[in-house]
Amino acid sequence: MIDFLALLVFVIPVYIANGLPVVLGGGPRLDLGRDFFDGMPVLGSGKTIRGFIVGVVGGAVAAGAIAGIYPLQWFESQGLQFWGGVALALGTMVGDTAGSFVKRRLGIASGRQFLPDTFLFLGFALIFAYPYVMSSLFSAENMVFLFGLTVVLHPATNFLANKIGLKKVPW
Ligand code: CTP
Ligand code: MG
Repeated sequence: MIDFLALLVFVIPVYIANGLPVVLGGGPRLDLGRDFFDGMPVLGSGKTIRGFIVGVVGGAVAAGAIAGIYPLQWFESQGLQFWGGVALALGTMVGDTAGSFVKRRLGIASGRQFLPDTFLFLGFALIFAYPYVMSSLFSAENMVFLFGLTVVLHPATNFLANKIGLKKVPW
C-alpha cells in the first residue's frame, strides 16, 4: 500500500521551494544578464538570485517545520531530516535553474510553456535527496504518485497564481 500522506508531506517542501520565488523573487538575475555562446540568455529574466535563495531557504525551513509536526518517514533517520530538507529544496531550485538553461538552449523564451519544466524540479529534488532517503522511496508506484501529482498540481497552481495576479502567464 502507498502511504499517500507520507509522500505528500515529503513532497510539500519541493512545491514550496518551487512556488515561493514567484511571490518573493526579483532583483538581479542569476545569470547577471549575460548571454550564452548561442546569443540567447544563459538563464533569462525568470531566474533571479533572490528567487533561488528564497526557494532553497524557504523549502528547507518548510521541510524542518513539517518534520517537527509529522516526522518525514522517508528520511533515513531523524538526524538526517535537516540535511535531507536542505537537499530537497536545493535540488528543486537547481532543477528549476537547469530547466531554464535547457529552455534557452532550445530557443524557448522565458515564461513560455515547456512540459519538462514540470518533471525537472521534482526529478532534481529526488536526486539531491537520494543520499538522505530510504531506497524504498524510489518504488515505481511512489514515483507514479509523486510525478503524477506534480503533473496535475503544477499547471493547476500556475493557473491559480496567474488568476490572483502573482504570475504573468497561466503556466
Ligand atoms: N523566479 C525568480 N527566481 C528564480 C525562479 C523563479 O525570481 N530562481 C520568479 C520569476 O519571477 C519567474 C517566476 O518566479 O518569472 C516563475 O518561475 P518559473 O516559472 O520557474 O520561471 P519562468 O518565468 O517561467 O522562466 P523560465 O522560462 O526560465 O522557466
Ligand atoms: Mg515557468
